[in-house]
Amino acid sequence: MSATCTHLGCLTQYEKDQNRIFCPCHGSRFDDKGLVTNGPAPAPLPRLALTLESGALVLDVGRVVAADALLKV
Ligand code: FES
Repeated sequence: MSATCTHLGCLTQYEKDQNRIFCPCHGSRFDDKGLVTNGPAPAPLPRLALTLESGALVLDVGRVVAADALLKV
């Protein structure tokens, strides 16, 4: 999933000890699936397209996919 906060675009941080994602700019929190648990973020962290091309993982930051999308290898 994208690490860019859906509020104003700050870079979020994963807090391993609490298994959550935190935005240091204005305090938004997301669960481990990217769903907002505390605003002001207006939307979940988007899932981005990941493909396997010639043995390399390729992340397409311009293409959002469904939350249940899986890369099968
Ligand atoms: Fe993340 Fe504002 S940019 S809470």
